[in-house]
Amino acid sequence: MMRIGMLTSGGDCQALNAAMRGVVKTLHHSGEEVEIFGFHAGYKGLINSDFRMLTNRDFSGILTKGGTILGSSRTPFKLINEPDEKGNNKVEAMKHTYHKLNLDCLVVLGGNGSHKTANLLRQEGLNIVTLPKTIDNDLWGTDMTFGFQSAVDVATHVIDCIHTTADSHGRVFVVEVMGHKTGWLTLNAGMASGADIILIPEIPYKIDKIVSAIKARADSGSGFTILAVAEGAISEEDATLSKKDYKKKVEKSPYPSVSYEVAAAIEEKTGMEVRVTVPGHMQRGGTPCPYDRVFASRLGSEAGKLILKREYGFMVGYRNREIVKVPLEEVAGKLKTVDPNATIVKEAKMMGISFGD
Ligand code: F6P
Repeated sequence: MMRIGMLTSGGDCQALNAAMRGVVKTLHHSGEEVEIFGFHAGYKGLINSDFRMLTNRDFSGILTKGGTILGSSRTPFKLINEPDEKGNNKVEAMKHTYHKLNLDCLVVLGGNGSHKTANLLRQEGLNIVTLPKTIDNDLWGTDMTFGFQSAVDVATHVIDCIHTTADSHGRVFVVEVMGHKTGWLTLNAGMASGADIILIPEIPYKIDKIVSAIKARADSGSGFTILAVAEGAISEEDATLSKKDYKKKVEKSPYPSVSYEVAAAIEEKTGMEVRVTVPGHMQRGGTPCPYDRVFASRLGSEAGKLILKREYGFMVGYRNREIVKVPLEEVAGKLKTVDPNATIVKEAKMMGISFGD
């Protein structure tokens, strides 16, 4: 009898359930006897030994369901060695739960922070297999994370809707897309929806370049402009600040986010009417798109295969159109960012899209 623990950690995304279903269906279908322990709300469930036994029935009808049947929460890695609210040592508590339940393996579905903790638990001797989830697509070691394509769909739909009203009113619209550290979602949703200006953290912008791009559009007869702006977009000036000074500046800023700052500057410099739209967590919610359902099922199934072969210490990822296993120590602590010189960026620029640089 194999005893497998499972948890979903960090910000949720679409297709978490599809991925878990892929793992469990593969394990059950192999004929191996398996018990599944589902931990509630991410690593917190492992720390507090808060779990429930999951049967086949729990995984039925969840392929199309957004969110996570296990619940999720953030357990920041930088605080992992600090005691929790009850004064417990988190790492020791997680190890204790794992050993008490006599688990053969723990399956972690998570993004960057969750992978650091997963790797730490591996170093502490636990058998771990992980799956790459996040709408941000910024996990190192995989070309794609599940949740990303669904979020691109949502953000694209938002910008599509904004397009028609922007056109009717001849306005400038700033649509804020999720992604504090990387611009994958903004770049892809921006291109998919025909945004005129795309601002991402990896390419610091100059406000004057943005204003010139808007004026050039107006001069050529386009009365409206759409900007897709990542949450983490940053001006060239701010990019020179130290992390600490930038944080101080943001804390003092009268604007709720960079999109509002950009919008105010455009209004002041062009005199045009500017509106800001922030779809926020809508981008993480709802039904996974068909791509993600298939992708997450495939990754889940391959994770099941690794578990059956007792091959632990890997993230199941996707590279060069192949599903691959990537050692956790290679994944943990690295961010996959958009290369400002990537072909997709060059192609976008050749089509006239401005990145404000
Ligand atoms: O990590 C995914 C993500 O949705 C980011 O794109 C976003 O910046 C962040 O989480 C929002 O976090 P929270 O749900 O904790 O507000």
